[in-house]
Amino acid sequence: MAEVDTAFFPESKDMPKLSPIQVEGIPIIDLSPMTSQTVSDSSSIEGLVKEIGSACKEWGFFQVINHGVPLTLRQNIEKASKMFFSQTLEEKRKVSRDERCPMGYYDTEHTKNVRDWKEVFDFLAKDPTLVPLTSDEHDDRLTQWTNPSPPYPPHFKDILEEYVGEMKKLSFKLMELIALSLGLEANKFEEFFMKDETSSIRLNHYPPCPYPHLALGVGRHTDPGALTILAQDEVEGLEVKRRADDEWISVKPIPDAYIINLGDIVQVWSNDAYESVEHRVVVNSEKERFSFPFFFFPAHETEVRPLEELINGQSPSKYRPYKWGKYIVHRHNTNFKKQNVENIQI
Ligand code: SIN
Ligand code: FE2
Repeated sequence: MAEVDTAFFPESKDMPKLSPIQVEGIPIIDLSPMTSQTVSDSSSIEGLVKEIGSACKEWGFFQVINHGVPLTLRQNIEKASKMFFSQTLEEKRKVSRDERCPMGYYDTEHTKNVRDWKEVFDFLAKDPTLVPLTSDEHDDRLTQWTNPSPPYPPHFKDILEEYVGEMKKLSFKLMELIALSLGLEANKFEEFFMKDETSSIRLNHYPPCPYPHLALGVGRHTDPGALTILAQDEVEGLEVKRRADDEWISVKPIPDAYIINLGDIVQVWSNDAYESVEHRVVVNSEKERFSFPFFFFPAHETEVRPLEELINGQSPSKYRPYKWGKYIVHRHNTNFKKQNVENIQI
């Protein structure tokens, strides 16, 4: 069990509540009008686009059902993930991320300089294509398998790759719906993800915590990418900051639903029409929890800036352009340095 030190403790204003507010929660959206046909050809999706638009505006978070992702893939990844994390720390560390490659296993992470109560395995969606991971120079490219491919559980890589393929399909569909809801062409965002796309999947394991009122599984943060598709198991833990009143609202697990949240890039592209909303993970003293976020990130070379269609005299550009690749590489490197300063035993 982990040694607890004050590095785990969030500032008092961020302390978890032991009984979070349970209201009807984030919207639940039925994607069936979209899964049977392509979005751009259909007129029957108007209602769906409206729902997505108001969920994005009011919450920045929603759950989707009838999304078209086969349940077996999710079951496979859940099972494989449990098998992977059940190994000894020594085994898991054989596929630790290192300074050359930020993909792989690590036994904790920091959010806003406070250590999270979790362990993680990260896997790059686009492999074996070489991608720049630790440098924004294109001639310094690596694959995540510069680390040994995890020997256990069997077929781990295949299971992850199959799941990631479905996550990408769903991400493109969701980006089409988001584009339509902003009054843009359905395929507006497609070009940003075609070449050198930098998406990844993360396996999270939150062990039971003897001090759930003092620690967080993940501290408050927004996600940096375009959108995140999260599968959570049956153990509650994710909390979302409700925009209307800044209360933390717990997201109820729904079997086979995916939780979608907008990331910082959509906030910039939409010039604040939609916002990337803060969320965090609380832990509990009895049950471990597993979750699997897929981070839909654009191509390394993307310059992120408000879309021209959404800026005008009344709504001038609110952001200066930034290079996605440079930004995310810097973030990876900073996290890696912090991880190596301290290590915990889980
Ligand atoms: C995260 O936002 O990083 C993880 C969310 C979760 O585990 O529910
Ligand atoms: Fe997140």
